[in-house]
Amino acid sequence: MRKIVIAGNWKMNKTVAESVQLATEVVTAARDVSKVVVAIAPTYLALAKVAEVVKGSNVKLAAQDVHWENQGAFTGKVSADMLKEIGVDFVIIGHSEQRSYFGETDETVNKKVKKVQSLDMTPIICIGETLAERKDGRLEGVLTMQVNGAYAGLSADQALRTVIAYEPVWAIGTGVTATDQEAQEAHAFVRGLLTKLYGDHVAQSISIQYGGSMKPENAAGLLAQKDIDGGLIGGAALKADSFLGIVTPGESLNK
Ligand code: PGA
Repeated sequence: MRKIVIAGNWKMNKTVAESVQLATEVVTAARDVSKVVVAIAPTYLALAKVAEVVKGSNVKLAAQDVHWENQGAFTGKVSADMLKEIGVDFVIIGHSEQRSYFGETDETVNKKVKKVQSLDMTPIICIGETLAERKDGRLEGVLTMQVNGAYAGLSADQALRTVIAYEPVWAIGTGVTATDQEAQEAHAFVRGLLTKLYGDHVAQSISIQYGGSMKPENAAGLLAQKDIDGGLIGGAALKADSFLGIVTPGESLNK
């Protein structure tokens, strides 16, 4: 019913030439993938070149961020129209690194989601708690604020065209992964929030990715969980074989 979406978030890694090389390897390695939606997110600088590589393949193009305005005096930023022109399919929004280093808030996430959707691209909305928040018993409160903030003013129809990435901040880039059970519990809670907002049908149709040190060794266990519908992959997406080592178990799942 819902798609398994596995996206590689390359962050601030790879020159343009290296990005083209990695994208070429991913396209080749993923050529027989039919069930999982595979996407890669190079830097802004490499998007146009990587777009040429993925064109006509089953690998989708993702951007790592966007600004909500159409154009203007926003030094360093890129608009949704610019991404659309290049052929971007998915836009990562609200990544914890954006939230913690660059002042992203639930309000800016919401503006970006709306802008991206207005151009028929799919937002990947990142949410997740810090270790301190989890230890303080604030996991559910934080996720509730983030989900309600991101979806504020979105219709059920718009909500259907979103993907969520649940990424516990303490698991990102640390090598520490949430256990299958910890991840499943958080995903089930997030799906419950979507049910409250939009009802069961919509909630059951939205893919919720897990992110945070996902790798070939732990992918099968995580992806087998009832409410885990893919992954947002950082470190392990920087090599084609480890990225495909996460896609392959997703491909063979019977759900
Ligand atoms: P990681 O990053 O896989 O390196 O933990 C995931 C992410 O930040 O999206």
